[in-house]
Amino acid sequence: MTLPASIESLIRRLPKVELHLHIEGSLEPEMVFAKAAKHGVTLPHASIDDLRAAYQFADLQAFLDIYYAGCDVLRDEDDFYDLCWAYLERAHADGVVHVEIFFDPQTHTGRGVPYPTVHRGLRRALADGQARLGISSELILCFLRHLSEDDAFATLEHARPFVGELAGVGLDSGERGNPPSKFERVFAAARGLGLKAVAHAGEEGPAAYIREALDLLHVVRVDHGVRCDEDPALVAELARRRIPLTVCPLSNLKLRVYRDLADHNLARLLAAGVCVTVNSDDPAYFGGYLADNYRAVAAALALGAPELVQLARNAVEASWLPAARQAELSAAIDRVAVDR
Ligand code: ADE
Ligand code: ZN
Repeated sequence: MTLPASIESLIRRLPKVELHLHIEGSLEPEMVFAKAAKHGVTLPHASIDDLRAAYQFADLQAFLDIYYAGCDVLRDEDDFYDLCWAYLERAHADGVVHVEIFFDPQTHTGRGVPYPTVHRGLRRALADGQARLGISSELILCFLRHLSEDDAFATLEHARPFVGELAGVGLDSGERGNPPSKFERVFAAARGLGLKAVAHAGEEGPAAYIREALDLLHVVRVDHGVRCDEDPALVAELARRRIPLTVCPLSNLKLRVYRDLADHNLARLLAAGVCVTVNSDDPAYFGGYLADNYRAVAAALALGAPELVQLARNAVEASWLPAARQAELSAAIDRVAVDR
């Protein structure tokens, strides 16, 4: 993939905001092996290269099976700190200035790791990210949709003492057969605690799931959402209400949501006025961090500077940053755009 030098330079210099990043999906094979050695865990793969070679996925579920298995090496607070700190350093190198990070507590509590261990490790890294790298951040607790409503309620209860350190709740894991409606009550309870709501919808599931996420879960952003184009009235509504979509191009390619990035609807949705943003989802598994995702769509869809600047501005608009910081970042993006 060769991009015009001016586009490469623009992507590098744009202040970037990431809104769809599963911290467990930033667990690189090198760290899997290091943590396995630390805890005396025997891995099914002989080497780092063997593990990386296994990252070929027929669909979302094939990925999730490997992703959940990898999490088994995360056991103590320092492991969660190290995981999050490694992501923040990598994001900083990419010019990321603000992140809103997902974590999946049930993946860990289900293995006997207490909720506070996970939460404290992540929060400590995020505090260091602000202090040492200047990256501001928010934390979003995701419920696993393949598990029960009761399990989600129990997770919300675990998180309750820490709720002031969470910005929102999300919904992830296997989408097909697990509609947003299954979690209507737990999302209502979470919103009652002052948490914002987001949900994965319209990744593998139908456009109807996006509608449910909006109408039943009252989400303020939709994660992925690319299948909205099956329902033109929904696309029009997303555009009119400026409901952001956190789109993850390399993820969509690796999980075969699109056969080819050239077929991706990101540019069409952007042109239709939808608040589309670019994100990395699970960068350790999908072959690229945030700037790589910008590069990949720029190349596949022949995006020019105006579209790339709009994507960066959309991410600021879609973030939960205070208005004054949003205005500062938008101005910084415009300065980069003019300086090209
Ligand atoms: N968990 C981690 N990545 C995910 C994705 N892309 N979709 C659903 N659940 C996920
Ligand atoms: Zn995701």
